Parts: sequence; structure tokens; C-alpha cells
Amino acid sequence: MPVNGSTGDATVTAAEKILREDAALAANALGAAADAMEGSTVLVSGGAGFLGAAMVDMLVHLNANRWKRPAKVLVVDNFVTGLPARLQSLASDPNVRILNADISRDVEISEPFNYAIHAAGIASPIIYRAKPLQTADVNVWGLRRMLELARAQADLRGFLFFSTSEIYGDPDPEHIPTREDYRGFVSCTGPRACYDESKRFGETLAVVYHQEFGFPIRCVRPFNVYGAGQRIDDGRIIPDLMKAAAHNEPLVLLSDGRATRSFCYIADATAGFYRAMLVGHPGEAYNIGNEHEVSIREVADLVSRISGTPVTFEKSIDPHYLTDNPQRRCPDLTKSRSHLDYAPFTSLEDGIRRTLAWAREVSR
Ligand SMILES: NC(=O)c1ccc[n+]([C@@H]2O[C@H](COP(=O)([O-])OP(=O)(O)OC[C@H]3O[C@@H](n4cnc5c(N)ncnc54)[C@H](O)[C@@H]3O)[C@@H](O)[C@H]2O)c1
Repeated sequence: MPVNGSTGDATVTAAEKILREDAALAANALGAAADAMEGSTVLVSGGAGFLGAAMVDMLVHLNANRWKRPAKVLVVDNFVTGLPARLQSLASDPNVRILNADISRDVEISEPFNYAIHAAGIASPIIYRAKPLQTADVNVWGLRRMLELARAQADLRGFLFFSTSEIYGDPDPEHIPTREDYRGFVSCTGPRACYDESKRFGETLAVVYHQEFGFPIRCVRPFNVYGAGQRIDDGRIIPDLMKAAAHNEPLVLLSDGRATRSFCYIADATAGFYRAMLVGHPGEAYNIGNEHEVSIREVADLVSRISGTPVTFEKSIDPHYLTDNPQRRCPDLTKSRSHLDYAPFTSLEDGIRRTLAWAREVSR
């Protein structure tokens, strides 16, 4: 089924309708800055994943609703965590090509492209702890492959690397909210190191390519993005709560719930990611998130209020479940606001309501 951006199409499922509305919200928030990509070709690694698919959806929305010259989208994904079903509605879209391949290996891309987005990664702590080498590889070798593919292009206009707020580790309280120039408090050997440290090295590679080859590269450091489209079996906290609420089961917390996070809705973040790629300063990194810091307990209570399911506490059977788990996470968005004109716009309550509506649809 081709995606035409219309939410009035009777064949569009309720879950897809939410995803399409999010794409429209992101495009709206990005505004005229998006038009630099009209008629271009965009390579997206990890395009079947949560963030990558939202990046693809926004381009598809602009093709259908705004641009006379459509953008071409090349997706590379090995489906280690991404689901083929997430892109199923794009299978017959002539502007989207999906390649099933591991970007950490010698993938060849024959079409020329103008923008490259490296959103491939293994982001769920449960999954990356089970696949630590694959996790490190995609953040280092996968990025290196994307950089080399991009270096061969005659007309490369932008490169975006998805780093993470986890590169800050567990900051001391005086560095919260956390600015981009904070150097981090990270273990290089702990159970999260395969992820955190390889993302840190990824940022180093990005800066080196900028220095040596003048690459138009920017890094984004997403802070706990959640929303429609995120697999509910992903193992991260919001998907866990959504899964339980969608099945009318108790909301189980495997900690005391006192650690904090700052959750950012997917549509807000998608606009921010594109802003970084299109108008950010080359060679620099940007926090993308929401400054509203809440405890895990508060989020669970909010989900409980919306869904009517109770909050309960259990101990994880995994002895390292909480090892090196950051106590607080909150972005300082001063730089993103001033360089990118980025501003999140969805409240936590609205975002949770949207996510739960989507989770209920996909759990039927
Ligand atoms: N979601 C967040 O809040 C968040 C926060 C910080 C950083 N990030 C980073 O953003 C990126 C996207 O995260 P996400 O939440 O969409 O994760 P995700 O797991 O939903 O998606 C990642 C996608 O990358 C694909 N992939 C993994 N390894 C690959 C490889 N070697 N070759 C090709 N494809 C591969 C997966 O199959 C999946 O489709 C990741 O790099 C992640 O580390 C995400």
C-alpha cells in the first residue's frame, strides 16, 4: 500500500494513522528547513528501527504533501531489532528502497546520495548486553562504513550520526541539566560500556572526518526518546510500561523508581534531529530531548492514572540490571535552542496518551 500522507485513507490502520500524524507533526515543526532535502537522496541506516523509521516517515510525508520533486530514500537495515512490518506500507513506494544488509560489513550502495543518517544501532540495554560485540561494531565499524560511503559522494550535503545521552554516563548533580561540553562520567569496562564507549568513539570518528575531510557532519545525543513506533518488547522503560498497560497488567518497576529521566516525544525529536543535520554547525554535537525531568516512579504513576493499572515493585533476576544505571538524566538545551532553533512541543502526558493509544492498537 503506497503511503500518500493522507490520514483519511480507509485502508490505513489506526496505528499507522498515529505514525503518519507524528510524521506530519515533525514536518510542521521542522518547517522550511526541510526544503533543502527536496529532490535529494537520503541514505538511512537503521531505517526500520524506532528513530530511523520516524526519519523515513517524515520524508515520505513531505513527498506526498509538500514537495514537487520527491526525495529518494535508501534504507539499510539488518533487522536485528527493527521489524520488516514497520516499513511494509512503503514496499511499493517508488521513492523508497529497502536493503537488508549489515552496515558493519562491506555494504555497497550503488546510487549516489546527498545525505547520510546513521541511525543503525542497538539501543536497548537488555539487547546490547546480550549482543555487546555487535553493539560496539555498529557504532564503530558501521559508522566507519557509512562515513566511507559518504566520502565517495560527489555532492554530500549532510551527515548525521546518532550518538546518545549515555555518553555522559552518570553525571554528578552539578552537571545536571547536562551541557554538550560536559565530558562524562563513564565506565569503560562496565556492563554498559559496549554501548557508551563505542558511541563516544563514534563521536571522535565524526570529528576526525570533519577535520580531515571537511565533512558536513553533526552528532545528536538523544535523551530518552519514546513514542508510537517503538517496539513494546524493546525492554526500555516506556515500552515496558506501555506493554503492561496495553494488556491491562500491573506496571512493574524493577528499581525503587527514584532515578530520573527526561522523556522526549518522537515527533519533537525527529524535527530536532533534522534541524541538527540541516542547520547545525559542522563537526558539533547537539542534545536533543526535553528538559522536563521526572522520576521513573512519576512516569509509572502517570501511566497508571491514564490506564487504570496499578504500579508494583519487583527485583530483577539480572544482578547487573542497575549496574552503572545513571541516577539522573536531563539535557541542557541552550545550545540546541540557539544553534538549531529546536524546541520540544509535546507534554509528557500528551505523549504518553498517544503512545498508549498506538500500543493498544498494535497489541490487539
Ligand atoms: N531511542 C532513544 O531514545 C535513543 C537514545 C539515544 C540514542 N539512540 C540511538 O539512536 C539510534 C536509533 O535508536 P532506536 O531507538 O531507533 O533503536 P532501534 O533498535 O529501534 O533501531 C535501530 C535499528 O538499527 C538496525 N541495526 C542495528 N544494527 C545494524 C547493523 N549492523 N546494520 C544495519 N542495521 C542495523 C536495527 O535492526 C534497527 O532497525 C541508535 O544508534 C541508538 O543508539 C536512541
